Amino acid sequence: MEQTLVLIKPGAVGRGLVGEILARFERRGLRIRAMKYLLVDREMAERHYDEHREKDFFGELVASITSRPVVAFVLEGPEAIAVVRKMMGSTNPLAAEPGTIRGDFGLEILANVVHGSDGAASAEREIGLYFRPEEIL
Ligand code: RTP
Ligand code: MG
Repeated sequence: MEQTLVLIKPGAVGRGLVGEILARFERRGLRIRAMKYLLVDREMAERHYDEHREKDFFGELVASITSRPVVAFVLEGPEAIAVVRKMMGSTNPLAAEPGTIRGDFGLEILANVVHGSDGAASAEREIGLYFRPEEIL
């Protein structure tokens, strides 16, 4: 079994899409191991997106993720990291296939509805950033 960190980004939380997005993951058979509604502060956002520090969109990305609360959760299942990435669809919603979360719920790259860890190392790092070990049940 594998675990991955998923965030429902502020725009999607504000649009009332939490239930619908969570339902897709649950229906697929992924299990919720931890879940939290929280405001990401600047320091946490910069740590989360450290790999993008030199990109020209870094400032906008940090501003966007810290703007309003997010919902963070740990999902578990066989190949959960790849399964979630596939369900999310392409980073740019304009390129994301219909049927994927990004392809069904948005048009803007910075407000692309969800984040999902992109590999085993980032999953471990991101789960540790959002949850203490005793919060994962
Ligand atoms: P995420 O980390 O959020 O799951 O998304 P991802 O792996 O599909 O994409 P990544 O390359 O890690 O980018 C992180 C987030 O930055 C925003 N982005 N903006 N303006 C741009 O060209 C641009 N490129 C990326 C997106 O919100 C993306 O989810
Ligand atoms: Mg990424």
